[in-house]
Amino acid sequence: MTELRFCAGHPLARAVHRIYRVFRSGERVVAVCSRGEDLRAALEEVGLKARLGLPPELDCISIVEEEVSRCELCNDAPRGEPLRVALLGHGTVGTGLYRRVAQLPERFTVVGIAVRDVRKAERAGAPARLLHDRCWRVLRKPADVVVELIGGTVRAARVIHWSLELGRHVVTANKAVMAPRAPELEKLARKRGVQLLYSASVGGALPALETLRRERGAVHSFSGVLNATSNFVLDGIARGLTPRQAVVAAQRAGYAEADPRLDLDGTDAAQKLTLLARAAFGRDPLRVRCEGISRLAPSRIRAAREQGKAVRLVASCRGDEAEVSPQLLPLDHPLATTAGAENRLFVERRGAHPLLLCAKGAGRWPTAEAVLADLYDLTDLPARARSA
Ligand SMILES: NC(=O)c1ccc[n+]([C@@H]2O[C@H](COP(=O)([O-])OP(=O)(O)OC[C@H]3O[C@@H](n4cnc5c(N)ncnc54)[C@H](OP(=O)(O)O)[C@@H]3O)[C@@H](O)[C@H]2O)c1
Repeated sequence: MTELRFCAGHPLARAVHRIYRVFRSGERVVAVCSRGEDLRAALEEVGLKARLGLPPELDCISIVEEEVSRCELCNDAPRGEPLRVALLGHGTVGTGLYRRVAQLPERFTVVGIAVRDVRKAERAGAPARLLHDRCWRVLRKPADVVVELIGGTVRAARVIHWSLELGRHVVTANKAVMAPRAPELEKLARKRGVQLLYSASVGGALPALETLRRERGAVHSFSGVLNATSNFVLDGIARGLTPRQAVVAAQRAGYAEADPRLDLDGTDAAQKLTLLARAAFGRDPLRVRCEGISRLAPSRIRAAREQGKAVRLVASCRGDEAEVSPQLLPLDHPLATTAGAENRLFVERRGAHPLLLCAKGAGRWPTAEAVLADLYDLTDLPARARSA
């Protein structure tokens, strides 16, 4: 268990970054601070559960209200120069990341931001002097790390490849690229002596990849609810919305993309499952069966609710066998009560109790927090390794 103390002299966002980094390392966290309720709300914004006064649990941070005069953030001077960040994308996640990074000038300097529509990005708060309408214009600026948040596959894979070739570290949230190409890109990163980090590509603020990598060798099997859109839509249909209305509600809440087909047909969950299987077992599963919720009759979802059960889109893996499929779960199942945009991961381990992790799996702030934690990890590298 780690106790973290925060005085009132720092923005709460900094306390959140510190807590999240410890939380994702697998520690139970007790945060001591005089602004308990405000800290709880700030943690909730990034998708982390916190409770006042209760003992910490793996899926939940405990907050103790107490005056703290000086804290570790008071002496948190970073080593060396700020990390130079080339940011590709200023959409849902990129906007959040830029705002967070701009509040940490002693750690990070943004050298350029690539978007397609410069005016739109300006209206969303990005400074005009940093904006470019082509990725290559930002990539040619001196930088230590490229943050790829443009999404898609072909162009995103190309810019990640170029960046690694140029000897830049890369941070990405792009599971559609990393699921098929991580092994090859990681090999290139090792060859160039740089890091390729992609925590945010699975589970938003849920430290799913970190947990399974840490537990590698002890994992018997794991299962999870990994697609926030499907979960949100299933909840909406269970409450009486039509599938169309439920998808629109997910889009309005910022969880579903304009074209939600890859979420609803199970592809997104299957991509995350592949990344998690590699983290847990060190290899791809031999078989991945994939069935989404697109063809599920609303009457089945509502009938489950009436029987005191829940339908969830579950991604599971036991060694070589992996599957994404809708499952009817009793309410005492660890995944059954996954609510709205929450993601959960349940890990069964050899010779140890199972682990259950919960956090918000999508949305601007949870995803930006996971990307930021990867950037912080780069600032911890020795000076020679962090600079390109
Ligand atoms: N949103 C989430 O909750 C979430 C959660 C986990 C992971 N992710 C992943 O994070 C990544 C970003 O997602 P997002 O939701 O932030 O996407 P988004 O809102 O669609 O934003 C994409 C950004 O990239 C820019 N862009 C796209 N193509 C470009 C190009 N060819 N050149 C320059 N800029 C380009 C867009 O510019 P314009 O606006 O000018 O078009 C926009 O600023 C994706 O890989 C996604 O899968 C997202």
